[in-house]
Amino acid sequence: MVQELRQGEEILLPENPNPNLKDYEEARRTFKWEDVEKEFTWYHTGKVNMAYEAIDRHAESWRKNKVALIYVDREREVKYTFAEMKEHTARVAAALTSLGLEKGDRVFTFLPRSPELYVGILGIIKAGLVAGPLFEAFMETAVKDRLMDSGAKALITNAELLPRVPYRDLPDLEHVIVVGAKDLPPSDGKTKFYHYEELVAKAPRDFEPVWLTREDGMILHYSSGTTGKPKGIYHVHNAMIQQYITGKWVLDLKEEDVYWTTADPGWVTGTSYGIFAPWLNGATNLVRGGRFSPDDWYSTIEKYRVTVWYSAPTAFRMLMGAGEEVAKKYDLSSLRHVLSVGEPLNPEVVRWGYRVYKQRIHDTWWMTETGAHICVNFACLPIKPGSMGKPIPGVEIGILDDEGNELPPNTPGNLCIKTPWPSMFRKVWNNEAKYQEYFRFPGWYISGDVAMKDEDGYYWFLGRADDVIKTSGYRVGPFEIESKLVEHPAVMEAGVIGKPDPERGEIIKAFVVLREGYQPSEELKKELMEFVKKGLSAHAVPREIEFRDKLPKTRSGKIVRRVLKAWELGLPAGDLSTLED
Ligand code: WTA
Repeated sequence: MVQELRQGEEILLPENPNPNLKDYEEARRTFKWEDVEKEFTWYHTGKVNMAYEAIDRHAESWRKNKVALIYVDREREVKYTFAEMKEHTARVAAALTSLGLEKGDRVFTFLPRSPELYVGILGIIKAGLVAGPLFEAFMETAVKDRLMDSGAKALITNAELLPRVPYRDLPDLEHVIVVGAKDLPPSDGKTKFYHYEELVAKAPRDFEPVWLTREDGMILHYSSGTTGKPKGIYHVHNAMIQQYITGKWVLDLKEEDVYWTTADPGWVTGTSYGIFAPWLNGATNLVRGGRFSPDDWYSTIEKYRVTVWYSAPTAFRMLMGAGEEVAKKYDLSSLRHVLSVGEPLNPEVVRWGYRVYKQRIHDTWWMTETGAHICVNFACLPIKPGSMGKPIPGVEIGILDDEGNELPPNTPGNLCIKTPWPSMFRKVWNNEAKYQEYFRFPGWYISGDVAMKDEDGYYWFLGRADDVIKTSGYRVGPFEIESKLVEHPAVMEAGVIGKPDPERGEIIKAFVVLREGYQPSEELKKELMEFVKKGLSAHAVPREIEFRDKLPKTRSGKIVRRVLKAWELGLPAGDLSTLED
């Protein structure tokens, strides 16, 4: 793997003559986080609120009539200036406050990418509440688990998605605000329903942000680990320091840019770099709704003269699959900086992008937990295709062995980050033990990834140390899917792994043991796939199911996914001494 990635070690030299970060080594030597803090209003006033720094501050400056948001899909185009964003987010904040919601309460969004989603998340934050964005693809169980665990008090959703919200089973959910509803379910003693259009339109447009401290809660992203249900990764307003500066250094945002990330706010990239980083930098932020389509995507770049574009390996691989001819139909010459995140970026894709887009694709590595970029390819440095680049100034990465000792270059080990950094998550919601698991080596955060540093200080991603699956960029935990599968009457046991796939990175494969009286069949496979899709979401569906008489287990009864993976890949299964038989 290492050899294959590093073979030939070609280098793509920097070609951006004027990046925001010009001298990486110098910045690493001299940079201090406090230099960035001085750029925020709160540094001088002591009053903190992300929504103020991202929107209101610009609306009160010469940027007030600059376009902040361009929203497009096949049906509509909506543009809001910073002044309009200030008003819209103020109305949401005022409406939520009028319902009696208070600082720190969790308010979720369950909406497709739409102006209401972006305004909604910032409005929640402006009111001092903690925003929890959900993917529109989530089905009932996924929605319920997250609202239940977080104790969400309010939800902003739309008429189409409302049927997937099991509000009767959610004791804490008091308010449901619905976009585009004809009629609403009757409010009962516990949950009240509101038309978004009435509640928000009636609210005042002057709303002073609820002033907080840097350590007050801002956003809660549910993300998957190996065991247990998805965990709530909790971020505070202080994260803005790192989100802002990486928007400058890594996205290389400048005043005249039109910036587009294809990421949905249900995923951390869609908030840290779909909302916070671009707007903290006062950029024009383009959002495209709807599904992936090469023609729609390229025509978006052409029509809006997109300059900075941030997407994911899966999307680049699909664009590559769609062929060079499709790309050639469009004028993509506005692009000047292209980035990728979420999974390893294949050297093949980097080379293709260089040829077809005439752009280096800058790989960036970070996690929901890190809140912002950690290890990236900078505009001012050479790119080694296959490498995720170097740590940002102010942050230190270590490659540690399993005892927590630092390893020398060219040795694979656990990718760890020296604590703390400004945008580090502050807790796992309701689960302090899970939070502590990340910090088993004193002074370090353990990412769960295996990586290596080369002699030039470039980092190379080698894999996960655990069973977390990355499929089409989505992070899914095997446990959640296994739990869903065993809810089906035909399933006695299930073990789920990621299987390498050229386009999706990995696909989900399930090994299933059936209950007595059920026979393996193609129909049953389809039924199980549909069952997971209906319960969780389309991206959690096992694309392959294999029936087995039994699964490899430890003596304590835990399914050993490592052995399933070895079966799948035809590899030796390793040490089996702790297995049942
Ligand atoms: C993987 C995404 C290789 C990694 C912002 C990490 C990557 C997990 C890269 C976090 C990359 C992310 N190269 N692998 N550039 N970026 N990953 O929380 O395994 O959805 O631990 O955050 O994705 O996934 P998450």
